[in-house]
Amino acid sequence: MARALGRFGPLWAGGRRRHPGSDTLTQQELKSSFSMQAKMPPCDFSPEEYESYSYERMLKIRKQNLSPSLNMYYKKPLLLHQGHMQWLFDYEGRRYLDLFAGIVTVNVGHCHPKVTAAAQKQLGRLWHTTNIYMHPSIQEYVEKLTALLPDPLKVVYLTNSGSEANDLAMFMARVYTHNFDLICFRGGYHGASPYTLGLTSIGSYKHGVANGFGCQTTMLPDVFRGIWGGSHCRDSLVQTIRKCSCSQGCCEANDRYIEQFKDTLSTCVPKAIAGFIAEPIQGVNGAIQYPKRFLKEAFQLVRERGGVCIADEVQTGFGRTGSHFWGFQTHGVVPDIVTMAKGIGNGFPMAAVVTTPEIANSLAQNLHFNTFGGNPMACVVGSAVLDAIAEDGLQKNSEEVGAYMLLEFAKLREKFEIIGDVRGRGLMIGIEMVKNKDSRQPLPDEEMSPIWEDCKDMGVLIGRGGIYNQTFRVKPPLCITKQDAAFAVEVFHAALMRHLERTAAN
Ligand SMILES: Cc1ncc(COP(=O)(O)O)c(C=O)c1O
Repeated sequence: MARALGRFGPLWAGGRRRHPGSDTLTQQELKSSFSMQAKMPPCDFSPEEYESYSYERMLKIRKQNLSPSLNMYYKKPLLLHQGHMQWLFDYEGRRYLDLFAGIVTVNVGHCHPKVTAAAQKQLGRLWHTTNIYMHPSIQEYVEKLTALLPDPLKVVYLTNSGSEANDLAMFMARVYTHNFDLICFRGGYHGASPYTLGLTSIGSYKHGVANGFGCQTTMLPDVFRGIWGGSHCRDSLVQTIRKCSCSQGCCEANDRYIEQFKDTLSTCVPKAIAGFIAEPIQGVNGAIQYPKRFLKEAFQLVRERGGVCIADEVQTGFGRTGSHFWGFQTHGVVPDIVTMAKGIGNGFPMAAVVTTPEIANSLAQNLHFNTFGGNPMACVVGSAVLDAIAEDGLQKNSEEVGAYMLLEFAKLREKFEIIGDVRGRGLMIGIEMVKNKDSRQPLPDEEMSPIWEDCKDMGVLIGRGGIYNQTFRVKPPLCITKQDAAFAVEVFHAALMRHLERTAAN
């Protein structure tokens, strides 16, 4: 199929060749050049029959009794009924390949048999005690978790959500340093609690109420959309389309973004700060990667100001980036505090903060408590998730299948003018869509959404992200196979072809 398309060369959003003087592709040519050959890979699981309320009744209850602030995906929202590993089934038994994993959460697969069995066993044994007593699962869990983290990150606080974990991390940084100000990147998402909302720097999550006291944003070193960026800035198999003349070992974009970071330190905060928080790869903002050396240099500057460095591993942790278990390891840094959620429980509500004994001791002057943190159910699930990642070889699979997908999407970027950037590591991939490569202006929603809806109609669920909702997010369960990945790429390709047909017809 790719070969058939190749004869048309690069195509642009108007369905015409990019270069002046070239022919415009007719609808007929487009149609005859492409036929969708991919078949959804087989799955030996059959869902149960759906027996709950009608679709219409579900929709009505959702509208009447659930928060109107909730964002629902798709014109006709999906009513999902069952999940099995990388597959989801709707109420009519339709099967979907899940490339979004419950928003980067279901890392080991939906209803993974080992995790489900562990939860079922614990359900009949003990649900809850709080941590005023000992129960075996919490000790077993933290021993396993800390074995995966470098020294001195050995003290675990178990929480219920990523927002709560980041709340606690902010609190720790302030108590430990006796400083108040925290720095975060624009475009970052760190939670929606009143405290973390100060760190979350995406306009659509901001409400007109006071928030973010002591939180200072700094320029996002985004080497694709940002002011600076070149052809080998980031640590990915795929670089941006931007060019630079930096020699080996130099990165002018990095140096300039670091100057901006220094500027924030000189202008927005006192001499002594509480800390800096960053995701190793920005998640909600569409898998944004920074220049290779950026975090290392920024961490040093923060520590010079007495601050601590917090890695938000809510999306990047637990093997998602493929080459490493934690995203911070890809930057060659060791943070002072690591927060984790989502993939930690494969969908079970749990999260954690891990820090050093020194920082933990500074908090021990007073009590810190939450009722459900370290709940036996959560700890047993968390343990089974860690076992499944190791036993199923999921980190390696993420690296291999992720590399394959990245390179395949990069080939599509060469063909389609509306694919501005392909980036990421492992199975944390962003495909940023643009009006055209020269302007890098975001592809408007009226063009993004039909592509996305078409993917869904062909059986592939993809996430959305980016400040302008211009980026497709590919972050599937880590158990996805290469065959699934090939199917997903072909479906995406077909959806882009349909986009060309639509624009050519207009
Ligand atoms: C990077 C990051 N940090 C923190 C959070 C907040 O986690 P939660 O939704 O569990 O509160 C999210 C959620 O999307 C996230 O992506």
